[in-house]
Amino acid sequence: MRTALVTGITGQDGSYLSEFLLDKDYKVVGLQRRSSSNNFSRIKHFLNHPNLIIEEYDLTDPSTTNRIIQKYQPEEFYNLAAQSHVGTSFDQPTTTFEINSVGVINILESIRNFSSHTKFYQASTSEMFGRNYTLKDGKKYQDENTTMLPQSPYGVAKLASYHMVQIYRSSYNIFGCSGILFNHESPRRGENFVTRKITKYLANLIKNKTSEKLYLGNLDSYRDWGHAKDYIEAMYLMLQQKNPSDYIIATGETHSVREFLTKAFEYFNLDYNNYVVIDPKFYRPSEVDYLLGDPSKAKSILGWNNKISFNELINDMIISDLNNA
Ligand code: NAP
Ligand code: GDD
Repeated sequence: MRTALVTGITGQDGSYLSEFLLDKDYKVVGLQRRSSSNNFSRIKHFLNHPNLIIEEYDLTDPSTTNRIIQKYQPEEFYNLAAQSHVGTSFDQPTTTFEINSVGVINILESIRNFSSHTKFYQASTSEMFGRNYTLKDGKKYQDENTTMLPQSPYGVAKLASYHMVQIYRSSYNIFGCSGILFNHESPRRGENFVTRKITKYLANLIKNKTSEKLYLGNLDSYRDWGHAKDYIEAMYLMLQQKNPSDYIIATGETHSVREFLTKAFEYFNLDYNNYVVIDPKFYRPSEVDYLLGDPSKAKSILGWNNKISFNELINDMIISDLNNA
């Protein structure tokens, strides 16, 4: 039985990936940071799985990282833990850098020193591109060759760890891959990301649990939105290849926040203009305006394909929030 370590198991992607790996008969060691209150809501339905072990862990603590890597010597290590909110990174740049950059170096050093056979997956991000894109035949997009010019402390921290993975690959022959994932959502998405904020608000509105307005920031940025369930499969595929590499994972479609909002409200025949208030509090000091990924490399080498459409994603989130409201 292969062993996989998964950081961020209590988060959106960590929860889906762990279930996926358990289904593939892995022993999964889920690394969870200590909390004074229970944050198992995304994993409680499989917490009793016989092949799941939960270990307390903090990415910023190198001695714990060393101890856990030495203890398990895993075949695969998926690093999904992060301070993942871009807006928050402007308010907490140092914490963001500690977790998203220094934390990754801690893992890479541990692997190099104690478990060099371990294959490592790093959760990189389209936020690393910032406002940059490639322009070809009138189309603006980002692929593996697009220059990265991050616009947020989060993007900078993720770019540093992206380069670190490349350095450990070329200098020490570590099997390290970065998945450059574009936005992906699901019913398990954190409630302060824009998509979930919208679907949760709508569910509460429909069930008469709120009569308040929905306060949002910039509606004119574009995102390439996929479903987390599709994206975690790409992470696994990267570590099954003969050689390590970095891959864009995206749908190849882009939509504005306004479009997401319009479609979500139209599900209930409502006009968002009657409910949404723009609050400058949610504007970012620097915004990423346009993301559209070209996943051709992942399609041809990994055989990966996005299966869940934009409309299906919105419906899935709405229905789930309605059931929970
Ligand atoms: P998420 O739901 O915010 O989950 C983040 C996880 O990291 C949580 O389990 C959190 O624990 C954990 N964590 C935070 N700080 C930690 C620390 N110091 N030590 C140990 N664990 C810590 O994020 P996600 O959407 O699943 O994203 C997964 C990864 O992919 C992240 O690295 C994110 O930056 C990256 N990414 C996400 C997207 C996207 O669109 N979702 C796109 C590209 C890249 P708590 O439960 O205790 O908070
Ligand atoms: N969060 C949030 N809240 N965003 C808002 C709001 C609001 O009230 N109103 C408008 N937005 C806009 C943001 O300014 C941004 O342009 C867009 O909605 C998406 O914001 P988020 O959902 O917070 O996602 P993100 O694109 O900043 O970051 C996500 O995707 C990255 C990959 O591109 C996160 O999952 C990151 O961890 C990930 O790396």
